Amino acid sequence: MPVRSDNRKKRVLSGMRSTGKLHLGNFVGALDNWVRMQDKYDCFFFVADWHALTTDYADTSAIKENSLQVVMDWLAAGLEPERCTMFIQSHVPQHAELHLLFSMITPLGWLERVPTYKEQRENIQDKDLGTYGFLGYPVLQAADILIYKGDYVPVGEDQVPHVELTREIARRFNMFYQGERSYVFPEPQPLLTPAAKLPGTDGRKMSKSYGNTILLTDPDPVVRQKLKTMVTDPARVRRTDPGNPDICPVGDLHKIFSDQPTIAKVWEGCKTAGIGCIECKSWVADALVSVLTPMQQRRKKYEDNPRLAWDILETGSSKARKIASSTMDEVREAMHMSVDRPGVRSRESGVS
Ligand code: TRP
Ligand code: SF4
Repeated sequence: MPVRSDNRKKRVLSGMRSTGKLHLGNFVGALDNWVRMQDKYDCFFFVADWHALTTDYADTSAIKENSLQVVMDWLAAGLEPERCTMFIQSHVPQHAELHLLFSMITPLGWLERVPTYKEQRENIQDKDLGTYGFLGYPVLQAADILIYKGDYVPVGEDQVPHVELTREIARRFNMFYQGERSYVFPEPQPLLTPAAKLPGTDGRKMSKSYGNTILLTDPDPVVRQKLKTMVTDPARVRRTDPGNPDICPVGDLHKIFSDQPTIAKVWEGCKTAGIGCIECKSWVADALVSVLTPMQQRRKKYEDNPRLAWDILETGSSKARKIASSTMDEVREAMHMSVDRPGVRSRESGVS
């Protein structure tokens, strides 16, 4: 088990935007990995509702409900409050204070060269992303990570540059402002999630914005219906045409979700036109349903009583606030901005 020098488990920190109900791509690309990290690391997972605002600031009416749906999917997938800390970003306002201080020391050029910034500015046309918050969102992400002194940040490939930037900000802060004993911020490492790209029903990457998702909450008949519409190897026009599962999105789903005998049957049957696509899709639907059913059963308890999910988030947020506020004490002290209040311990003056 990876431990720190003081023998505590290494800390893992990661966030997910509050986008509402999660889909299989979120599961394969992040959540499944988080579930498996719970005992090995001291895990902190948060719903990044402020990050959602960087693009969806104009209408916030669904934001709270979206956060709830995300957390219910986490609980459904197997995150457990006894084994990890789950919280909501906006319930820990210290992130915003650290973001402000970091914004003072972050050169604009560092932000302008972040790949996701350029890409999204070009690709997203229906919203005005020419805002201060959108450009600065990697600084907020740096604050999210560093305020917990996270050792590892599990992310997909697209987010690795953000963790790199976080390391640069930590280094710059440590260079300007020395803490009492040593530097304030350790440099976190990205933990690349080894995720195969999960295709959506149209064959493109599964993504909410493409409308090609299978939700973790989709019931059996909906999963089967969505699969029926899924694109296949275009070479298989007729039942008698052989196909190639290696270039078929349904084949990709088999690789991720089906067992070995089924995979062997699909590869053999598809290439020899021994099976039909309808049959092949029904097998992958069986595999998906068997993954989703236990999740949906676990989720039911929270759907019936959302208060339970909110309570978990409140307990988690309160724990997170304690750590975040202790880091902020160190930050203020290192910047010679600590608050001297009678009765409040100040390490600088030695007054207790
Ligand atoms: N930016 C991440 C995303 O869009 C979400 C996120 C916010 C995050 N803060 C984080 C991920 C901190 C890891 C660590 O997916
Ligand atoms: Fe794709 Fe299966 Fe049809 Fe082959 S049989 S083309 S793998 S859906």
